[in-house]
Amino acid sequence: MQMRITGNSIGHKGDWGVSYPANLRLLIQNLTEDQWVNFSKHLEARPPMPWFTLQMISESDFRATYQFIRSLGPVGVLSPNFVPPGGEIKTQYIDFVPVNAKHWHGFSHVTSK
Ligand code: HEM
Repeated sequence: MQMRITGNSIGHKGDWGVSYPANLRLLIQNLTEDQWVNFSKHLEARPPMPWFTLQMISESDFRATYQFIRSLGPVGVLSPNFVPPGGEIKTQYIDFVPVNAKHWHGFSHVTSK
């Protein structure tokens, strides 16, 4: 568990820009349990964060994950900031470009930002 849930500095590049998974072990330090529940339930984030699936998680499970993640302690560094489309990318990244997808219309159905 040493470096689990500590985010990643490898970006995910798509039509939304370049997103980096957040370091939840650092982020959670600044939140109370109630704030975590509220934040997670209402989170809308960029791909590939599956934020819509968080809405299926029960309040008691969010409370349990809060306790679990807090118990791991603050480890790692903050993930790089999101880079808007066309911005300078200073990290390694994964290109989220579909191939042979004739009917591809982008990630707009899961992108809220
Ligand atoms: C239960 C599992 C997960 C939880 C509780 C969770 C939670 C979160 C939270 C709280 C944030 C921070 C949002 C913010 O600060 O605005 C975040 C961001 C992010 N997560 Fe997750 N996450 C989970 C799974 C995943 C998975 C499986 C992936 C990738 C396959 C992922 C990718 C990302 C990315 C790329 C961001 C940054 C999004 C942005 O820039 O808007 N997450 N996640």
